[in-house]
Amino acid sequence: MEERAPSTSTGGGERPSSLSQEGRPRPYDDVTTDAAMRVGSGLEEFDRVLGGGVVAGSLVLLGGDPGIGKSTLLLQVAAEMSRGGRPVVYISGEESERQIKLRGERLGIQAPSLLLYGETNMDHVIEELKARQPALVVLDSVQTVFSPRFASAPGSISQVREVAAELLYFAKSSGTPEFLIGHVTKEGNLAGPKALEHIVDTVLYFEGERHHAHRIVRATKNRYGAAGELGVFEMTGQGLIPVLNPSGLFLSERPEQAPGSVVVCCMEGTRPLLLEIQALVSRSSFGYPRRVALGFDSNRVSLLLAVLEKRTKLPLAGEDVFVNVAGGMTVGEPVADLGLAAAVASSFKGIPVDPHTVLLGEVGLAGEVRGAQQAAVRAREAARLGFKRVVLPAQNLPLTDAPSSIETVGIHTLEEGLHLLF
Ligand code: TYD
Ligand code: MG
Repeated sequence: MEERAPSTSTGGGERPSSLSQEGRPRPYDDVTTDAAMRVGSGLEEFDRVLGGGVVAGSLVLLGGDPGIGKSTLLLQVAAEMSRGGRPVVYISGEESERQIKLRGERLGIQAPSLLLYGETNMDHVIEELKARQPALVVLDSVQTVFSPRFASAPGSISQVREVAAELLYFAKSSGTPEFLIGHVTKEGNLAGPKALEHIVDTVLYFEGERHHAHRIVRATKNRYGAAGELGVFEMTGQGLIPVLNPSGLFLSERPEQAPGSVVVCCMEGTRPLLLEIQALVSRSSFGYPRRVALGFDSNRVSLLLAVLEKRTKLPLAGEDVFVNVAGGMTVGEPVADLGLAAAVASSFKGIPVDPHTVLLGEVGLAGEVRGAQQAAVRAREAARLGFKRVVLPAQNLPLTDAPSSIETVGIHTLEEGLHLLF
């Protein structure tokens, strides 16, 4: 019952149909693609996620759990971008203008060109936007506004899509960048950001847990930059502050000389990030050993445990194995395999891995260690953070332009790697 035909009776403007600025076909040669169409958002980490700044005419969706910091981030960006003098319109169907102002005061924001607009009717919104020609539009949230041409409730799939489509036409025809906030919702009658992913140019998600002070914003789709790019922020009393050295943050609480703790380097978008992997192996008190993976794909963990058993003769069958990525991060890259296997072996043996070593390499079913992409970039990040040694696939050697401050040790198999470490 979600989808309903548009009701015919309600008024409002005609739905526009053109993304073109001239409303007719144009020669390929005449279409300009100025690189200067980007402007800074005032937050460096946020610019990075966007692929280098806010693109004129782009429609960006920012999703995330309630309370994670979406309104805070975009209010900060709105205030920064209003400094140019042209107005920025922050539309809120969720909080009153007063509530937003209170948040702004908490953030210490002074923004004479920032317009707060508590409105839920899209016809009024579009009318205002046309009249004001803003430098930026923020809609908080896409689930609270509605088009009077649809009978369904705000937040339904048809409404959310219609609202996004109307804003898309405004963005493309006027060249105005727009940010839409979308709540990730549990099952229910509200349509989540998923329904909009194909309409918008860029999809950003707030990741991580509210229990940590740091917040991660990741681009899962970006027509104007690399998908997978991520920005790291810290939620403070003065709003979100960019974390300039995320590797340092993620390693800051690492227990040195503790068995089961290993450092790997994963590429997040174009940025190398050092992460601590932790494993705890303990004798299982039940017949069926437990395998718990946080931040890893559990199939990947099972596979590596099988390789450890079969290829390195580590008797894990009667052991409970818990693995975790410190700081609430997730690891998707197979290049973390070697580190994960070493963490498990380290905990099992009760021998710590040298705390100045970073491990890189995908582990295959035969126990072979396979080449890593961008090994030199990863080694440089390790050197920057003061690590002394990288253990990596032999295929990757010699590393071109590896920093001289770090030793590189190539290995061919997991067994060889564990031999080297313990
Ligand atoms: P908010 O941006 O309202 O979340 P969302 O729009 O995603 O629902 O942020 C909510 C949380 O952030 C709230 O628990 C309070 C906290 N917060 C801070 O810690 N510092 C701040 O400066 C602000 C404005 C909020
Ligand atoms: Mg909010």
